[in-house]
Formats: sequence, C-alpha cells, structure tokens
Amino acid sequence: MNEPTRTRSQAAEDAEDAGSNASANPTFGDVVAARFDRRDLLRGLLGVGAIAAVVTPRALAAGASSRNDASGAEGSGAATRFPFAEVEAGSDAHHRVAAGHDAEILIRWGDPVLPGAPAFDPHNQSAAAQGQQFGYNNDFVGYFPIPGATDPAAHGLLVVNHEYTNEELMFPGLGRQDIKSVAFQGMTRDLVEIEMAAHGGSVIEIRRTDGKWAVVPDSKYARRITAGTPMVLTGPAAGTDRVRTAADPTGRAVLGMINNCAGGTTPWGTWLTCEENINYYFSGSLAKDSPEAANHKRFNLPANAYAWGRFHERFDVSKEPNEPNRFGWVVEIDPFDPTSVPKKRTALGRFKHEGAAGIVARDGRYVIYQGDDERFDYVYKFVTTGRADSGDRDLLDSGTLHVARFDADGRGTWMPLVFGQGPLTPENGFRTKADVVIGARLAADRLGATKMDRPEDVEANPKTGKVYVMLTNNGKRTGDKVDAANPRADNRFGHIVELTPDEGDHAATGFTWEILVRCGDPGIAAVGATFSSATTKDGWFGMPDNCAVDGLGRLWVATDGNAPSRTGRNDGIWAMETEGPGRGTGKHFFRVPLGAEMCGPYFTPDDTTFFVAVQHPGEADEEDPKAVPATFEAPATRWPDFDAGMPPRPALVAITRHGGGRVGT
Ligand code: FEO
Ligand code: CA
Ligand code: CA
Repeated sequence: MNEPTRTRSQAAEDAEDAGSNASANPTFGDVVAARFDRRDLLRGLLGVGAIAAVVTPRALAAGASSRNDASGAEGSGAATRFPFAEVEAGSDAHHRVAAGHDAEILIRWGDPVLPGAPAFDPHNQSAAAQGQQFGYNNDFVGYFPIPGATDPAAHGLLVVNHEYTNEELMFPGLGRQDIKSVAFQGMTRDLVEIEMAAHGGSVIEIRRTDGKWAVVPDSKYARRITAGTPMVLTGPAAGTDRVRTAADPTGRAVLGMINNCAGGTTPWGTWLTCEENINYYFSGSLAKDSPEAANHKRFNLPANAYAWGRFHERFDVSKEPNEPNRFGWVVEIDPFDPTSVPKKRTALGRFKHEGAAGIVARDGRYVIYQGDDERFDYVYKFVTTGRADSGDRDLLDSGTLHVARFDADGRGTWMPLVFGQGPLTPENGFRTKADVVIGARLAADRLGATKMDRPEDVEANPKTGKVYVMLTNNGKRTGDKVDAANPRADNRFGHIVELTPDEGDHAATGFTWEILVRCGDPGIAAVGATFSSATTKDGWFGMPDNCAVDGLGRLWVATDGNAPSRTGRNDGIWAMETEGPGRGTGKHFFRVPLGAEMCGPYFTPDDTTFFVAVQHPGEADEEDPKAVPATFEAPATRWPDFDAGMPPRPALVAITRHGGGRVGT
C-alpha cells in the first residue's frame, strides 16, 4: 500500500503523519552534525520548483510511446549483467515490458478461483461470488512447483496476497468513502461483506503450455482465504489474556487475515503471508482506562479507514479492545492442502509486516528478515531454534526475534527481544513472553533500535550472502533526525541498505552495512541520488518497495509511489546492479499502467518466468492538482480489459522471454 498517496482516510493520515514511534531512540551526534549543512542545502533547494522539474515534457509525452527497441541497453555499458533492452520510463494506461519479452495477463480480480465460481459481473457483485473469485489488490506472489511435475518451472501453485480494497474503483456509483466529508455513508453491510471477501489470499494451480501460462480450472488445490477464514494463533501469544475476546474465550481461534502485503515461501513448502496496515480496519473509541491504550497508540489504531466496525463489532475497539491483538502477524499456510488451517505465528512479532523472506543459516537454522512499514520503524529478523530441515511443521513457534541497530561506523547489531532480558521486564510493562511479541514495537523502542525510513521488503542474496533492505521514503524525517543509515532529511525517494552478516552467517548478531543507492533523479543535484553514472534517464527510480533475487543473484526492485507528479514515471520493476564496477546502476524492465503500484516480483526456479502483480490500477495521482478523483465510472485507466463496461482490475502478469530462456538476459 502506498501510504503517502493512498492513505485510506484523512483520519488515518492524521494519525500517521509523524509515524507512531515517539521513543527517544538515539541518532548519532557526529553524523548529524556532519549532515546539517547538507540538510540545509537540501531543504533549501528541494522546494516545489525542483520537484516540479522532475516532470519533464519527455516523461509526460511518453504515454503515447510503446517503443522498446534496443537503444536503452547502450547506456549501461558492456559489463552489465542485465543486457536486456531497457524500457522507457513514463506514464500511460498500459503496461510496458523490455523488448524481447512477453508480459501476459494471468488472472484478474473477479476471475474464477474455486470450482463453480460465477463469472465476474461488476454490476452484480456479492460476497458469495467474490469469495470464490480472485480477490482485489494482488500483492505478494509465491510459486511452488507441483511435486513430481515433469517440468517444475511449467506447472505449479501460485499463492497470492490480496492486500486491501478500493471501494471507489470496485463499486458502481460509490466514489471514495474514506474521506471525512463522506464518512462511509455509502457503505452497506453487503458492500462491506464483499470487501471482506476480496481480502486475504488465493491459491491457484497454473500450467505453461506452448510457452503460455494459464490457470488450471477446477483445481483440487484452489483456495480462497478471506477476512473471515478460520485460523489459529500459535506461539507465545496464543491463548493468553490479551488475545481473548467475547467470541473467542480460548484466545486461539481467529477469523481471517487482513492487509496481507508481502510474504515469503519456506524450504518446507509453506507460504508466509504478512499482515501490514491492520489499524485501518478498526474504528470506535477505546475506553480511557483501557490497558491496551499504549499498545494501540503505538500501532496508530484505530485508524477508521474502513466501515467494517459498523457491521462487525469485533472491528470496533470500544466493543472488543483485544481484537486488534489478533492481527498484525505473519501467517503460515500449507498451499497444498486447501483444508489446512492457517497459523498466525506470534513468535515472529506483531507489527506492520511487509514481507518475510528467509534463508538457511550456516548451522541449519532458518532466518526470516522482516521490515515494519511505518515511518521511523524498524528492521527485524527471526531465528528459529530448530533446523529448517528438522521436519518440525511448527518450527516457527520457537526462536528469537531480533531488531536492528545501525551504528554510524558502518557496524550493526541484531538485538534479541527476549522476555526478562535487559529492559523487557515487568517494571517496564512486559509481564510475559506474550507482551513482548504483541508489543514488539514497544519492546524494540526499549532496546534502542534504529528508526528507519519505512522498511519494506528485506531479501537475502544466496549467491553473495548479502541482505538488501528496501526503505521506501520518509517525508517526515527532519534534519535533526537524520542518522547514518537514514541520511536524508525529507527523504521522498527512499534508499536501499545492504547488510553483510558477520562471517557470512545469517544467524550472527553482528553485521556491517552500507547504502547501496539513494533513490530519485540523479539529474537534480539537490535530490542527492547516488545511482551510478551508467544509469540512463530511464534507469533511476524512487520509492523501492518489494524486491526479488534471481538464480544468478541479480537484484530486482519493485516500486510504490512513482507517478507523473513525483518522478515523471509510473511504478514498475528496475534491475539493480549490486556487484562490480556497475554497482548502483538501475535499469528499467517493466512499468505498470496509470495509478498502479508494482508488487509481487517472484521468479520460477529456473528464472524463465517472472511473475509480477499490478495493484490498484486506475487510482488517481493525488499529488497532481489537476487530477480528477478516480471512480468506477472514471478510472485513470481501464487496464487490463479496456472495456468501457469494465472497471480497472488488479491482475497478475507473467513475463517470459521470446523463445524461452532466462528473463532479463
Ligand atoms: Fe503494503 Fe508496505 O506496502
Ligand atoms: Ca506495496
Ligand atoms: Ca509500500
């Protein structure tokens, strides 16, 4: 979800303006002092005029162009590991991919998932139909080969998150509801039920025949998970007081998962799907003396960005103050068994999880890197107690959650969040293990973790052992709050940090770090971008969000927040060189249609297919003062159907090379 342009409501925006982290965690005095002059320079020059200059006539005119010849490859030099022909940065109603590749629609919002699902009819939607159809706003995508498949890269399961819903684009005649002047007056119980059925996830079986992917109809694996699917809490918080509700006195049985953003796949064949902005779904006023007050405040909760609390008491914190503690987790799902009960793994902590990419440590334990997507929040990792190959299906219930501190000298420390250790004691409000995981942010505050610029995907590169942290942006970081790892005040375009674990061991508590790239237009000095000089006018980007590492160890970055008004280009996929003389070179590979965000990037095991997810196509560019609010009737694009009777539809795209072979070569 793109928070700055797509905050679900004015109330949510107000609540999140300064992040929710009021802790006094340190910045680094000498570094700050060294950056002050630069900060003043930045603040002086980075005014409206400089930003407006980003929107070039070339960028605005690019809408008419679908040219993707080989000229873009020249600027990157002969040594590039990304020899594909660069796509032109710009903005139009269509998706664009680098020449020599096909980018085909695989499945769209409303397409059948379960056997017998009705055909999509946007004028006659129902929760019953939506619960059998592909949900809204596809985000994370994971691929699992079908066991025994003749070609594991041509027959598999796709698992897909459905993060959130855009009522103004989904429903005829409604318009935006999450603004103060409207206050959800148009929302009915039926519409809320459809929204809830459009959240969650999908499992689909897919097969590639003669080079073309298609969904296998009536698959025995097909599954829809929604905001009402029964699931269980496991780990330290399960069954404890703070997760018990009137409807669930056991504190173990939860209905649904919400705002599932990015995720991961495990070596033992499960899907990790991560709850992010769960505060948006809660409304009402917490009792003044509620013991949950500090906890909910640290989560910017309730944010009143949906009308669900009007029809479901569990989403009203005045009626059910503990329900929010049952969301904000990493959920583990067995995609091969549609009857399996999803498990919310509380040992991994409760915060606004972006993703959960893992890697096996030297001693066989499993390490999951996690970002908490909020301005001034933290980077975490979880290290299991047991080995990844132990066969223990509940491996993720036991282990140690850590939070990162980035020191100014380029060193860093993973600090364990363990009940009873250091400040995590009853005197400081942590009475049990459950308190530490439910209040992971509060616990991390106590340890002095480093406040980052919206940590999103964190991904380890198995080829090099290095770890990449996407930091989307933070326009609220003022000059007195910069630090070595977040060195830009008013960081509108984000940056990428590279970690190197000590001795190449992902379970180690020490690491070194450096900034791989500061994003934004390198042609505007005041932006302070650090792409390599080999980067073309198309190759730079802002707002890194999701990422993937392919089988060659090459890094691919998906963005959230580029738009004509901000960077003169739509979001998309950029290749990012991390090694050798070309380090820091960006190269544009794919771009989304107007209003959309790029999610999901995931490769098949042989890199012959690259799955990407196009989220919320057709949204208005809210920073463009001339933009007309987008609605079902008047979206910014009608991608992918381009049918006057059909709204835009979030959809998955399968990218392959003409004639086969590894994508992006
Ligand atoms: Fe759902 Fe952090 O993007
Ligand atoms: Ca996103
Ligand atoms: Ca994002």
